[in-house]
Amino acid sequence: MTKPTMKVLVTGAAGQICYSLIGMIASGQMLGFDQPIILHLLEVPVAMDALKGVCMEITDSAYPLVKKVVATSDYQEAFTDIDVCIMVGAMPRKDGMERKDLLEKNASIFKGQGEALEKYSKKSVKVLVVGNPANTNCLIAKTYAPSIPAENFSALTRLDHNRAKAQVADRLGVNVSDVHNVTIWGNHSSTQYPDVSHGYVTINGEKKSITEAVNDDAWLKGDFISTVQKRGAAVIAARKLSSATSAAKAIVDHVHDWVLGTPEGEWVSMAIPSDGSYGIPEGVIYSFPVTCKDGVVTIVQGLKIDDFSRNKMEVTDKELREEKQLALN
Ligand code: NAD
Ligand code: LMR
Repeated sequence: MTKPTMKVLVTGAAGQICYSLIGMIASGQMLGFDQPIILHLLEVPVAMDALKGVCMEITDSAYPLVKKVVATSDYQEAFTDIDVCIMVGAMPRKDGMERKDLLEKNASIFKGQGEALEKYSKKSVKVLVVGNPANTNCLIAKTYAPSIPAENFSALTRLDHNRAKAQVADRLGVNVSDVHNVTIWGNHSSTQYPDVSHGYVTINGEKKSITEAVNDDAWLKGDFISTVQKRGAAVIAARKLSSATSAAKAIVDHVHDWVLGTPEGEWVSMAIPSDGSYGIPEGVIYSFPVTCKDGVVTIVQGLKIDDFSRNKMEVTDKELREEKQLALN
């Protein structure tokens, strides 16, 4: 039996992330190879010509799952009755900037789009904010869409999660699929805390903790953390543009696992409204280890937090509260 069609909105659809993202969504990698979709693509008026070209390419790719494409710069048309909302549209940072430097430019976008979610979207819509600073922009959108449940809002830290897995895999000479249960705590910024202390790897069929397998605490507490924290800046320095194809892959992974579930025994990182877990008070969008089942996100509980981790988790929480203050002002 054919599944009911899902409406997916992607904002910033003529930008560089979306140029990698839209094909992945349209081919079924995000919501399943049996899931028909209607694509809503939102852009600012000056980018509508470029978006026309993107639409021509969607047509030319002949994706069987795509039932219709709505390309628009009108919020009502874009946000009406959507099931999934991927908010990419925002200015990216340039070399030498921190992501929070974008707040002044980008915050108003997320206020307006939060209001549009409130006015036009289904209350069950799942929202993923990608535009930076992603956690605080997500908080802004959520604030302006008070009738949509808080648990429907998330920001992207899956790219950091994937980066952490890849660094460990590279260090150990194993495949990324052998690295499990790393965690990104906090903000998608250079204060984020990539934590492998609860993770494990499978080497020759044997399960080993990452700490034991790597056997180099100085690296795990030093270069590993700073490499993941600063990877976005390193890509910008090399490309003179911020990461795009890896961001698109992370978006697909995030929404895929949210809607279709995480594998048994496996967790991923998602920035979601804090609920007091791990001593992080309510009021910010904080990245936690989570599992997903039937569209519901659950924070993994009971992980032991040592003093080293506690300190790093508090630093990134403090930054999020400062960003929130800045946004409110
Ligand atoms: P880009 O400049 O190539 O594309 C952004 C697009 O958004 C542009 O086409 C622009 O016209 C459009 N846009 C601007 N305002 C809009 C609005 N109000 N409504 C709809 N569209 C709008 O940028 P990009 O490289 O695609 O990056 C987009 C954002 O994603 C940036 O803020 C970047 O920093 C962020 N990002 C986040 C992550 C993450 O992991 N969270 C990773 C990579 C990039
Ligand atoms: C990334 O992590 O690559 C993105 O957030 C882009 C950036 O500004 O670092």
